[in-house]
Amino acid sequence: MKPLLKTLTEIASPSGHEDAIREAVLKLVKPHADEIRVDALGNVIVRKGRAAKNGKRVMLAAHLDEIGLIVSHVDANGFARFSTLGGFYPMRKVNTRVQFLNGARGVIGLEQPAHLEDRAPAMDKFFVDTGATSAKDSPVKVGDAAVFDAGFSDLGTRLVSKSFDDRVGVAILIEALHALKSSPHEVYFVFTVQEEVGVRGAGPAAYGIEPEIGLAVDVTWANDQPQAGERNPIKLGGGPAIKVKDSLMLSDPFLVEGLTRIAEKNRIPVQREVLEGGSTDARAIQLAGLGARAGGICIPLRNIHSPSEMLDMNDVNNTLKLLSAFLRSAEI
Ligand code: CO
Ligand code: ZN
Repeated sequence: MKPLLKTLTEIASPSGHEDAIREAVLKLVKPHADEIRVDALGNVIVRKGRAAKNGKRVMLAAHLDEIGLIVSHVDANGFARFSTLGGFYPMRKVNTRVQFLNGARGVIGLEQPAHLEDRAPAMDKFFVDTGATSAKDSPVKVGDAAVFDAGFSDLGTRLVSKSFDDRVGVAILIEALHALKSSPHEVYFVFTVQEEVGVRGAGPAAYGIEPEIGLAVDVTWANDQPQAGERNPIKLGGGPAIKVKDSLMLSDPFLVEGLTRIAEKNRIPVQREVLEGGSTDARAIQLAGLGARAGGICIPLRNIHSPSEMLDMNDVNNTLKLLSAFLRSAEI
């Protein structure tokens, strides 16, 4: 699992530019799929099995895209101004390195000094310094996209990388597909696009699949660092978090209870998530077409949307166990 996580997180694929990660995923799912298609938006839809009597159509979703930025103009001195792709929060990214999809690299800067005290400077006060000295010698142009330029660190049980959101979900879906020998259900493993810019890919995919049950496998904030407060007390290493509520959805209560029961039966530690901010593909699946019973399994993550997201391998392994047991269960 660690080598797969390293491979997937090292790929640069921000929202709307999922080609590279899609190619990698297609290769990995091919030997284990009954049917694969890529839809107009670029979602990868993998079917495994057919529903037995009393079996259901189940859609699992993990998003391919990661947050990033996109050049909006290059000024006379060669500094590239930008717009964000997803929750990038540039104020917390000053002096952070980025890599453009065309190979160029740069450092995020903020106009000085007037805006140092400003807690929320306007987007046009930020820039990427690509080393260019004029607009003419800039290696990037309007519309070029970038992601964090960050390495993968193995700390033992815990790993640090960019884009664990949601490459860890992608890795878990791939492993669950590989491990799935038989299920009473017709299972769709869906690798979605453009989640970070407002869950845009999952809805059209669900519209075509018409799942009865939808489950997003994504990440959630681990709030266990110093002075994190006591709201939403999710712990790194405490087990996958079963989504109960987030800012855009209420999980299906029977699904929450079903997942909890399956976890108990298999002695898998779990936590429960009630989140004030953010959402996942599950919301789009829940409301697509005539609607679906939907929920989520979320892997705790520290430093979300930064070049140094941290996860715990116990949570990864327990999420895979829970998901696999869920897919084998006839009582969902
Ligand atoms: Co995210
Ligand atoms: Zn995510």
